[in-house]
Amino acid sequence: MRGLEQIPWLYDGLMAAADRLGLRRWRRRLVAGVSGRVLEVGCGTGRNLPLYAVPERVIGMDPDLAALRRARRRAPSVPLVVARAEALPFADGVFDTVVSGLVFCSVQDPPRALTEVRRVLGAEGELRMLEHVRHARPGVARWQDRVQPAWTCVSGGCHPNRDTEAAVERAGFCIDPDERVARGVMRRFAARVCAAQADASDRNDGDSG
Ligand SMILES: C[S@@+](CC[C@H](N)C(=O)[O-])C[C@H]1O[C@@H](n2cnc3c(N)ncnc32)[C@H](O)[C@@H]1O
Repeated sequence: MRGLEQIPWLYDGLMAAADRLGLRRWRRRLVAGVSGRVLEVGCGTGRNLPLYAVPERVIGMDPDLAALRRARRRAPSVPLVVARAEALPFADGVFDTVVSGLVFCSVQDPPRALTEVRRVLGAEGELRMLEHVRHARPGVARWQDRVQPAWTCVSGGCHPNRDTEAAVERAGFCIDPDERVARGVMRRFAARVCAAQADASDRNDGDSG
């Protein structure tokens, strides 16, 4: 499906305006203080990449080659990979941080993608997300449901009515309440695999070893 997200010059023009109107602050907070080896899932045209303190420790990935060409110009030192979040071409546990900004509204299969994120994160790994989500008020959420088919078409994949935080929790992550910011439909949060789940998978690893 081709829409705004697949037309990099147009996407960047619209995002430049959104960044000036306040989105850049959300982006800065999203990447502030990230540590270790970082994977940015769905980096698109790379608008977050210059904001990392140590871009050399970041790998950017996105399924859209044209978007990645722009990302390359924006952040020449960041290695870029063409891939989908549902099938990450990385070994288990190789990243300390996975960052995702405005992406899980667009991935085709969020549960599968989150399973992949979990797989590539190390035991203490952190997932950082910036998303717009389903509104808490049922009336607004119903309106989001109504506009979703047309918006998904125009945007090239975005679903304005997804409850991404619930999907993250269903995937076995616990959201850190101290690292969660909610304003309207915007969310920024950090999450780690819940302790009970991490213990269970450690036990399974021990049993199979
Ligand atoms: C709204 S754009 C966000 C781009 C960038 N992260 C930003 O903050 O400007 C959504 C991005 O998600 C990417 N995307 C869509 N489906 C994806 C998938 N299955 N796996 C990874 N990225 C995906 C799109 O190619 C697009 O670059």
